[in-house]
Amino acid sequence: MTDYFRRHLGAKLLLSYLAIIVVGVAVLIIASQFILPTSFNRHMFGMGMMMDNGTGMGIGNQGVGNSGLMPQLYVDFRASFNEALTYAALAAMIVAVAFSLFLSRSVIAPILAMSLATQRISEGHYDERVRVNGKDELAQLALYFNQMAEKLNQIESMRRRLIGDVSHELRTPLTAIKGSMEGLMDGLLPATHETYQQIHTEADRLNRLVDDLQELSRVEARAYQLDIRPLDVSTLARIMTKRLKPHAESKRISLDLELAPDLPHILADEDRVVQVLTNLTGNALQYTPAGGRITISSKQVNNEVQIAVRDTGIGIPPEHLSHIFDRFYRVDKSRSRQSGGGSGIGLTISRALIEAHGGRIWVESAGEGQGSTFTFTLPIQK
Ligand SMILES: Nc1ncnc2c1ncn2[C@@H]1O[C@H](COP(=O)(O)OP(=O)(O)OP(=O)(O)O)[C@@H](O)[C@H]1O
Ligand SMILES: [Mg+2]
Repeated sequence: MTDYFRRHLGAKLLLSYLAIIVVGVAVLIIASQFILPTSFNRHMFGMGMMMDNGTGMGIGNQGVGNSGLMPQLYVDFRASFNEALTYAALAAMIVAVAFSLFLSRSVIAPILAMSLATQRISEGHYDERVRVNGKDELAQLALYFNQMAEKLNQIESMRRRLIGDVSHELRTPLTAIKGSMEGLMDGLLPATHETYQQIHTEADRLNRLVDDLQELSRVEARAYQLDIRPLDVSTLARIMTKRLKPHAESKRISLDLELAPDLPHILADEDRVVQVLTNLTGNALQYTPAGGRITISSKQVNNEVQIAVRDTGIGIPPEHLSHIFDRFYRVDKSRSRQSGGGSGIGLTISRALIEAHGGRIWVESAGEGQGSTFTFTLPIQK
């Protein structure tokens, strides 16, 4: 029985109402025991005095304890008082039961619904939601619960998509390696340096993909420390250009700098900014044909510094612009693969790194063949 009360909020509520009624009735009984006789006497005495004055019948000097009319009157009064008290207590109990039932419906029902939904979610049904009724604390709880469920649902579908994407990406080089090996074993492919080189290239691609994935998961989970210090963007950009110049020249692409004078220092992790700049210029070099131009520019806008990498390359069609930072997204998948291109993770990593600094990154392109500009912002040192 006590276990039942301990386990049910409705029973506890009912019990607390009953306890209040019992205490109220007990207080009334005790009060009537001690206060009622004297109070009765006083009132009757007062009434007797009035009647004495008017009729001369004289009951004013008879107390509750005396023999005569008064004790009988008190006994009758007491009996009717007790009767009224009993009815009142009964009525209060009925009201208490009704009230606790009503409260059970309005308080316990949503809690029960939420615990059921929690159970369903823990079993993997991430689309489970609860009804939000009213605006009180319980409705707030239901609202937050639904928001949490929505987030879990998103994470779950992201996880599913990621597994799908990763398996798909891994399958391509693996199939190529397996095909070449089978060709070699069956004697269909000649055991030449070229064949081995092909297998090595695919294995290398696999290796790069795994490295990129590892870096992506580290960056997205924020499993790294940002070493934020004041940095001079101009010096950084000059070092970057010097380092990439030979590569650009070998592809007959010119690499220029456009730096605003008196650029303030930015607050950022140098290695991470270099990583982002390397990704962006690497892309520009990859997607710009010979004879093109790449420009790294920087200027201050309000309390941020904007750094942009602009190229005169193949450009990006408008319908791809909003997806370009998505994981594994490539504008032309087949071309990327055939040309030994990347896996579509570079920009995703860059965005995560810039956002970790409190900055933004975006792309602009007038369309195919019109070149592209990738811009990111970083906070300045105040
Ligand atoms: N400068 C650019 N000009 C045209 N297209 C670009 C440019 N930069 C990126 N892209 C497009 O965006 C896609 C995603 O770029 P991202 O850097 O994320 O991946 P990736 O270069 O294909 O591979 P990796 O993960 O090795 O960097 C590219 O595949 C390409 O289609
Ligand atoms: Mg890239």
